[in-house]
Amino acid sequence: MERTFIAIKPDGVQRKLIGEIIRRFEAKGFTLVGLKMMSVPRELAEKHYQVHQEKPFFPGLVKFITSGPLVAMVWEGDGVVSSARKIIGATNPLTAEPGTIRGDFGVSVGRNLIHGSDAIETAAHEISLWFTPEELVSWDSAMAPWLE
Ligand code: TYD
Repeated sequence: MERTFIAIKPDGVQRKLIGEIIRRFEAKGFTLVGLKMMSVPRELAEKHYQVHQEKPFFPGLVKFITSGPLVAMVWEGDGVVSSARKIIGATNPLTAEPGTIRGDFGVSVGRNLIHGSDAIETAAHEISLWFTPEELVSWDSAMAPWLE
C-alpha cells in the first residue's frame, strides 16, 4: 500500500492547526500509520532538505524547521502521495488554491505550514529518515475488530 511522509511544520503547530490538518487527511479516507511530535535535530532537517542545500533559502529553512515542535506523520492509501500534494496546495500559500491547506491558512512561502513528499521514491526515503519500521503500524480500518 502506498505511503507518504507528512510533517506539520512549527508554524502549523503554533497556529493550532494540528487537528484541522489531520482531519482533512482522515476525511479524505487516508489511514494514519505513524505519528509523533518532536523537536527536529539540525542534522535531520539538513538531510530532509538536502536537495535544497545550495539554495539561498536553505539556512533559513533549516533554522525554521528546527525552531519548535513539529508533527511527523506517515499516511497510507491508494494514490496518497499525489493526493496529499493536492490537499496541501502549491508551495507559495499566496498562489495556493483556496480549499487547500496552504491556500486556506498561509500567506508566506517561508511559513507554509506543512510538508508532503513529492514522489513515491521521495516518500520512501523520507519515511526511512523520520521513522523506524517499529514506529509504523499496519492496519486495515475496515477489518478492525473493535469496530464490529
Ligand atoms: P520545495 O520542495 O520547492 O516545496 P514543497 O514544500 O512544496 O515541496 O521547497 C521546500 C521548502 O522550502 C518549502 O516548503 C518552503 C521553502 N522555500 C522557501 O523558503 N523559499 C523558496 O523560494 C522555496 C522555493 C522554498
